Amino acid sequence: MFQLLINGQAHQVDVPPDMPLLWVLRDVLGMTGTKFGCGIAQCGACTVHVGGNAVRSCLLPASSVAGQPITTIEAVGETPSGAKIQRAWLNHEVVQCGYCQSGQIMAATALLDATPKPTDADIDVAMAGNICRCATYVRIRAAIHAAAEA
Ligand code: FES
Ligand code: FES
Repeated sequence: MFQLLINGQAHQVDVPPDMPLLWVLRDVLGMTGTKFGCGIAQCGACTVHVGGNAVRSCLLPASSVAGQPITTIEAVGETPSGAKIQRAWLNHEVVQCGYCQSGQIMAATALLDATPKPTDADIDVAMAGNICRCATYVRIRAAIHAAAEA
């Protein structure tokens, strides 16, 4: 049993310590906004924030982030950068099928927190690990620039 601090709420979880955080979020706590894509830390669909940093939750043992502040797509819109990113995503109609977009938004928000006025190169580096099969990359870049200007 250990405690996870997710979106400002403490959750006591009774799971094996090596269970990936993504499993705990989705299957134990019912927070299904964070997506399973590849399961091998290659696609970015499972991105959440731990201590403000974008991390892959599909291979991250949940016990390794016990007590650290975790933010998921369910609450990222309550942060200043998350709100700007989500508004820009809507204005630019970024989403197609949507499957990758939780991870895209989490990665973009972490970028904006770290780099308030990112260049195209900054965006390419920060978003390189987030794969979109619908190829929404051009609109993602435009939306991040718009969020930075907001
Ligand atoms: S599901 Fe975690 S990176 Fe693909
Ligand atoms: S919007 Fe479909 S995979 Fe990215």
